Amino acid sequence: MWSLTQPRTVARFAVVFLLFVRLQRGSAANTRTCPPPCSCSGELLDCSRLKRGQIPETIPEWTVQLDLSHNKLQVLDSTLFSKLQHLSEIKLNHNELEAVPDLGPYASNITTLILANNRITKISVEQLRPFLALETLDLSNNNIVDIKASSFPTLPLKNLFLNNNRISSLETGCFTNLSSSLQVLRLNRNRLSTIPAKIFQLPNLQHLELSRNRVRRVEGLTFHGLHALRSLKMQRNGLSRLMDGAFWGLSNMEVLQLDYNNLTEVSKGWLYGLLTLQQLHLGHNAISRIRPDAWEFCQKLGELNLSSNHLSRLEESSFVGLSLLDELHIGNNRVSFIADGAFRGLSNLQMLDLQKNEISWTIEDMNGPFSALDKLKKLFLQGNQIRSVTKKSFSGLDALQHLDLSNNAIMSVQANAFSQMKNLQELRLNTSSLLCDCQLKWLPVWVAEQTFLPCVNASCAHPQMLKGRSVFAVSQEEFVCDDFPKPQITVQPETQSALKGTNVTFVCSAASSSDSPMTFAWKKDNEVLNEAEIHNQAHLRVQGGAGGAVGETEVTEYTTTLQLRNVEFSSEGKYQCVISNHFGSSYSTKARLTVNSKQTKMCHSTLLVPFQTNLFYCYDPSNRNTLLLAPPHGSHCGQGRNRCPAVHSWR
Ligand SMILES: *[C@@H]1O[C@H](CO)[C@@H](O)[C@H](O)[C@H]1NC(C)=O
Ligand SMILES: *[C@@H]1O[C@H](CO)[C@@H](O)[C@H](O)[C@H]1NC(C)=O
Ligand SMILES: *[C@@H]1O[C@H](CO)[C@@H](O)[C@H](O)[C@H]1NC(C)=O
Ligand SMILES: *[C@@H]1O[C@H](CO)[C@@H](O)[C@H](O)[C@H]1NC(C)=O
Ligand SMILES: *[C@@H]1O[C@H](CO)[C@@H](O)[C@H](O)[C@H]1NC(C)=O
Ligand SMILES: *[C@@H]1O[C@H](CO)[C@@H](O)[C@H](O)[C@H]1NC(C)=O
Ligand SMILES: *[C@@H]1O[C@H](CO)[C@@H](O)[C@H](O)[C@H]1NC(C)=O
Repeated sequence: MWSLTQPRTVARFAVVFLLFVRLQRGSAANTRTCPPPCSCSGELLDCSRLKRGQIPETIPEWTVQLDLSHNKLQVLDSTLFSKLQHLSEIKLNHNELEAVPDLGPYASNITTLILANNRITKISVEQLRPFLALETLDLSNNNIVDIKASSFPTLPLKNLFLNNNRISSLETGCFTNLSSSLQVLRLNRNRLSTIPAKIFQLPNLQHLELSRNRVRRVEGLTFHGLHALRSLKMQRNGLSRLMDGAFWGLSNMEVLQLDYNNLTEVSKGWLYGLLTLQQLHLGHNAISRIRPDAWEFCQKLGELNLSSNHLSRLEESSFVGLSLLDELHIGNNRVSFIADGAFRGLSNLQMLDLQKNEISWTIEDMNGPFSALDKLKKLFLQGNQIRSVTKKSFSGLDALQHLDLSNNAIMSVQANAFSQMKNLQELRLNTSSLLCDCQLKWLPVWVAEQTFLPCVNASCAHPQMLKGRSVFAVSQEEFVCDDFPKPQITVQPETQSALKGTNVTFVCSAASSSDSPMTFAWKKDNEVLNEAEIHNQAHLRVQGGAGGAVGETEVTEYTTTLQLRNVEFSSEGKYQCVISNHFGSSYSTKARLTVNSKQTKMCHSTLLVPFQTNLFYCYDPSNRNTLLLAPPHGSHCGQGRNRCPAVHSWR
């Protein structure tokens, strides 16, 4: 049938055509003989890993890429290459060559020369001169000890790899002949201990690697001349000093990696000029301080890694100016103090990693420590010392999706502590320290109600009857408040004002039904007072059982007194007691102390002696030696240290 023969004709034609094509290809492949024992693939002739003496005597002319690696070659016969006009890439790594080999007349066509893992001891103009088209030169893992000026002829070299040699010095001008082409320079694992200032005059260099050298100190202007540089790696150098302007001139820098060094502080001095920096990696250093205006020049920063350092305090000023910051890593530090407002201004932050620090009261007592972070999606707090979570702990975190609280010995979680986080998708909590009393009734119910599956592994430590039971295996009736082992504040310290030079006491009491040992601390403006004079007392009290009913409980009441002697203006602040036992910490309210200057005898306006414009002496007839500088009658007196003396007594 016509309708069938028509397609058949087409098919027959197609077969003939395919055969023709195959013949053409076959003849091309025939001219590409593959010399045994090498193998071929496309334009690559692979003669790697051969036994000595197995290298073919002639290499086919079609070769574009040639692999001669892993052959124990000590010398190369240049006649082997005399016809290889198409050769563009040659791998000679893992041999025993002691110099850059002569690759014959067509060396000028080679763009990639891999000589890593040989025994080359120096780079010489003469040996490199024939490679007029060279773009990539890999001399990693050789025995080069220095780079002298006049090592490189003028080459179009873009990538130069010198990792893992023994280079201890770079002579001024050594890279001059590469300055118009070089884009990537790797000098990791060498023995550089100093980097001469302005040694890198490489206006096209984009990536510079200097990790694992011995540079302890970077002087100002060291990297001047690298306007195009986008990334710099200087990990594992033992760097301890970065002088002012160390990175000045790197006006297009995006990524700076300084991990595993010995840096102790972040300051604007060394960050000077890094106006386009997006990522700063400072992990595994010894940083204990971030200077107040550190980030003045780095306002484009998106990622900051400060993990594994010695930070113990995050101050109000620590992150000022980082309004574009997206990720902040502070895990594995010693952070215990987080100032009010430390995260203010981090309006773009999406992830905050605070794992493995010493955080406790920030979560237990502060009012919305993270409330400025309204874009935050991930918060890592695992491995801290958090024992209780309150409703205020996470307030303001409206966008939070992931919260990790695992590896904290959490004892109590206030009802609705997580419910304001409407976008929560993952909650990690594992604790076997829970105080399973009536306050915790809500937790298993809430967890069960969540559409996502919270990773909550929580078991009771108290009361004794429930010890070791998962909260999910405790029935609602079993969550009862028969006792209160966690201290409860019964007497709060009181706000007061005192005269300068007098003694002040603050008193605070707490009760607990447990006989677990109690510890007491006083804080001033959120800082623990380590040297303070504190007196503690305990007394037993019998509670409940009114009218002879059963269920009398013995309660221990503890009182702690903070004695401040001879108060100064600097004693002013907010004082708070913290009373803790095995079952948790209780924080009192904060009592304010105001200090006034020493009250003098009434000074009547008749006794005011004009001294200067707006300043008067008060003449005290009962004490002829007392002459006080005073403001004029009725003037307003300032607060704080600049206050006027005895202003209250002026009449
Ligand atoms: C190799 O070099 C020769 C002259 O040096 C030139 O004529 C030829 O085009 C080059 N071949 C390639 C593939 O670059
Ligand atoms: C630059 O290269 C030329 C040869 O191309 C060489 O003679 C000269 O010494 C080199 N200069 C430097 C500073 O390396
Ligand atoms: C860092 O400095 C300390 C003392 O300042 C020193 O003991 C330590 O060896 C240094 N570490 C490195 C890696 O240089
Ligand atoms: C932060 O730096 C440390 C090394 O100092 C590294 O192990 C960790 O992976 C880095 N974190 C991120 C998120 O880059
Ligand atoms: C919490 O989980 C971690 C592993 O995710 C485990 O190492 C740790 O022992 C757990 N802690 C408790 C109290 O279950
Ligand atoms: C819960 O924690 C206990 C130990 O604290 C552990 O044995 C158990 O495997 C954990 N379960 C889950 C689901 O993580
Ligand atoms: C304040 O305490 C000191 C002891 O440090 C004591 O000598 C002094 O009398 C006390 N002052 C008053 C007014 O109680």
